[in-house]
Amino acid sequence: MQTTLWFRPITEEAITNLYCRTLPRSLAIADLGCSSGPNTLFVVSELIKVVDKLRKKLGHDSLEYQVFLNDLPGNDFNTIFKSLASFQKQMSCQLGPGAGPCLFSGTPGSFYGRLFPSNSLHFVHSSYSLQWLSQVPEGLDNNKGNIYMASTSPPSVLRAYYEQFQKDFSVFLKCRAEELMVGGGMVLTFLGRRSEDPSSKECCYIWELLAMALNDMVSEGLIEEDKMDSFNIPQYTPSPSEVKSEVLKGGYFSIDRLEVSAVKWNDYDSEFNPSIAFSDDGYSVANCMRAVAEPLLVNQFGDAIIDEVFRRYRKIIADHISKEKTQFINVTISMKKSGHFII
Ligand SMILES: C[S@@+](CC[C@H](N)C(=O)[O-])C[C@H]1O[C@@H](n2cnc3c(N)ncnc32)[C@H](O)[C@@H]1O
Repeated sequence: MQTTLWFRPITEEAITNLYCRTLPRSLAIADLGCSSGPNTLFVVSELIKVVDKLRKKLGHDSLEYQVFLNDLPGNDFNTIFKSLASFQKQMSCQLGPGAGPCLFSGTPGSFYGRLFPSNSLHFVHSSYSLQWLSQVPEGLDNNKGNIYMASTSPPSVLRAYYEQFQKDFSVFLKCRAEELMVGGGMVLTFLGRRSEDPSSKECCYIWELLAMALNDMVSEGLIEEDKMDSFNIPQYTPSPSEVKSEVLKGGYFSIDRLEVSAVKWNDYDSEFNPSIAFSDDGYSVANCMRAVAEPLLVNQFGDAIIDEVFRRYRKIIADHISKEKTQFINVTISMKKSGHFII
C-alpha cells in the first residue's frame, strides 16, 4: 500500500488556509507517527513547499520552518537524522534562494500523551497511525479464533474495541488542543471504514485472513491454542461518523472537512484486473501486512513460526484478491483549533 506518496488535496488546502489566517513568521509543524522509511519526510516537504510558494506569491518574507517528527521511542530516529543533511540540501535547492531554514527535531513518545509545549504548534499532521490504539482493549476473553473484530466476534468485543478508541482519541484531541495555537490546523488520516458496522469486511477481513493462517497452524499443532486465544490486534478502524462524534464531543476543534477514500490492497494503479493481481501472488499485500504485524506476532508466538505464517497468509490473500476487488478505506479529517478553547 502506498501511503504518504500521495499528498492529499485536503492537506494542501488545510496548510494553505492555516498560512493565510495566521501569517506566521516561523511555522511549527508536527508529523505524528512519522515512522522511518523512504517516505518519512515526504508530507513535511510538501507542506513546506506549499507554504513557501504561497508566501512568495503574496510577497511575504521567508519563514523559518520548524519540523517535529514524532513516533514511539523504538522508532529508528537515527536513520531519519542521518538523512537530514541531504534532505535539507535538496529542500534548499527546491525552495530556491532566500528561503528560510528547515529545522528538524525528533520527539519520541506516544501521541496519547503530551508531546509539545502549550500553544507551540501551528500544524499537526498524522497519517496511518491513529488507528493504532494505546493498548489491546480489556474484555476480549471471548474473541476465540479471532485476532481482531470479526464477523464472528460477540457484541462485547466490538464494544470493548470501540470504547478503547473513544478513550484514546479523546485523550489525543485534548493533548493536541493544548499544544496547537488558536487557529492552528490538524489533518489526520486513519485506516478506517465506510460502514457503521465495526466488524465489516472492508476493515476486518485482512485480519480475518491472517487469523485463518494462524488457526490452520493451531490445528496442526504448530501454534499453542491458548496463545492464539489471547492474541488480539490493538487497532481500531473508525467510520467517519465515529471520528466526527469524538471531535464534536471534545469541543476543541471545528471540522473543515471529513472525507473517505480508498486504496487497493495491491499497489497497482490500473483498474482491478484479476490476472495481474493473481500474478503478484499476494506478495505485496502480505509484505505490507508483515511490516505492520510481525513485531506483534513475534511478541506473542516467538520468531520461529513467522516465515511459515506469512507463507500461508500470502497464499490465502492471493486466493482472495484473485476473486474479489479489495480496498483499504481511509478516513481523513481536517480541523482547526477553536478560538473559544482556553487552556
Ligand atoms: C503505518 S506507520 C505510518 C507511517 C507514516 N505516517 C505513513 O503515513 O506512511 C504507523 C506509525 O505509527 C506509529 N505509532 C503507533 N502508535 C503510536 C503512538 N501511540 N504514538 C506515536 N506513534 C505511534 C508506529 O510506530 C508507526 O511508525
